[in-house]
Amino acid sequence: MRPGVAGLLLACLLAASVTIARAQAPVAFTEPEVRRILHYGPWPQPVLRDPSNRVSGNADAIALGGRLFYDRRLSGDGAMSCAACHLPDRGFTDGRDRAYGRAALDRNTPSVWNVGFARWFGWDGAADSLWRQSMKPILNPIELAADANHVAALLRSDQELSAHYAKAFGAVPDATSADETTLVNTGKAIAAYLETLVSRRTSFDDFRDALANDDRAAAARYPVAAQRGLKIFVGKGNCVFCHFGPTFTNGEFADVGMPYFAAKGGVDAGRHGGIKELLADRFNLLGPYNDDASGAAASKTRHVALQHRNFGEFKVPGLRNVALTAPYMHNGSLATLRDVVLHYSELDEERLHADGVRILRPLHLAPQEVDDLVAFLESLTERSPTAQTGKSHPPQ
Ligand code: HEC
Ligand code: HEC
Repeated sequence: MRPGVAGLLLACLLAASVTIARAQAPVAFTEPEVRRILHYGPWPQPVLRDPSNRVSGNADAIALGGRLFYDRRLSGDGAMSCAACHLPDRGFTDGRDRAYGRAALDRNTPSVWNVGFARWFGWDGAADSLWRQSMKPILNPIELAADANHVAALLRSDQELSAHYAKAFGAVPDATSADETTLVNTGKAIAAYLETLVSRRTSFDDFRDALANDDRAAAARYPVAAQRGLKIFVGKGNCVFCHFGPTFTNGEFADVGMPYFAAKGGVDAGRHGGIKELLADRFNLLGPYNDDASGAAASKTRHVALQHRNFGEFKVPGLRNVALTAPYMHNGSLATLRDVVLHYSELDEERLHADGVRILRPLHLAPQEVDDLVAFLESLTERSPTAQTGKSHPPQ
């Protein structure tokens, strides 16, 4: 080998190692970035009792709700349970772009992990309580297609279910005129169960705590690609604006430029339709079934007002365990996390509503940055999810 070639090779090797060294360099976070990161924890957080649901946190209600969630007898024809779409093995989703049923629902099945922390329920927030949301699929003709009499009859006929019901609410009344109350109570028991579905800790949580404790050795165990992705997430990507707080959502609604033409034709008005449905709903928190005498729980509903900008807004999803719940978005139109990141990177501003605050801009990320953001989103996956196939998952 001629010396010149050897020198060139050496130079190339050195250059390559410098690049590698730079790629592996620990990521420096600014003070404001660290503060934002600390808001994502500590984790897990306790789920606060829901004052609108008097059996929130009640052990018998949780046991009853946990059984009903997996019980196909709850459906009108005995063929479908909640878990048919919210599969525990799939992060409580169904892996489909849009939910299946007797006829396809036109929305993606959201996960119910950490749903006890949410303020509104459904992609459009048409339900203002978890118990109201839990009643909806029971009655929906394209989901469980049952009615109050069917549910009350099931609870009367099954000894184990009646025993739990009796301890939580008192005996199931015989009069069918009382079946509506039994149905609402059933929704409250299922809600009490869903509140226990708090996801486990992730490698991100270890990193966040290491930052909080200034523990460099522990922080260094978090993959560098995920650190770089996190820096984009809380920095120039501005994802933190909406995906904020311990469950990575501000709990509200936004338009991120997803097309709202529904697959079956027509338009999905999102939050605009959700508000109309919520305000017309006699089971909302302004109605007689709210157990919160103080009126505080209903104040969010009292303050809802329909605005034009709500058109095409959807609920900001939490991102814990997001790697387990593909496909993504309210219509399941994005197959992978990479597709979601590319959506934000190449955002079509024409699709955003002009009267909203311009929070989103196309990020035009470099390929490496796309990989980094995906690595960060994947690091929000709890440890050993496959071990969680049991019927209930008590809070840690
Ligand atoms: C046919 C599939 C299917 C079945 C069965 C089903 N769900 Fe769902 N679930 C969905 C879809 C789709 C949505 C989104 C609905 C919307 O946006 O309005 C949803 C939304 C939810 C939400 C709101 C989650 C959030 O983050 O806002 C909860 C809670 C929920 N379902 C619980 C249940 C319970 C409890 C049952 C059984 C009584 C059930 N689901 C049965 C498909 C299903
Ligand atoms: C303006 C608020 C807002 C900002 C900023 C934002 N998001 Fe979102 N995000 C949403 C909303 C709303 C949805 C659901 C949209 C829909 O279904 O139409 C969503 C959906 C997602 C999903 C899919 C989750 C699922 O379960 O389907 C991921 C992943 C995600 N965002 C990551 C990000 C990342 C990464 C960034 C930064 C590059 C970001 N988001 C910035 C509001 C926002």
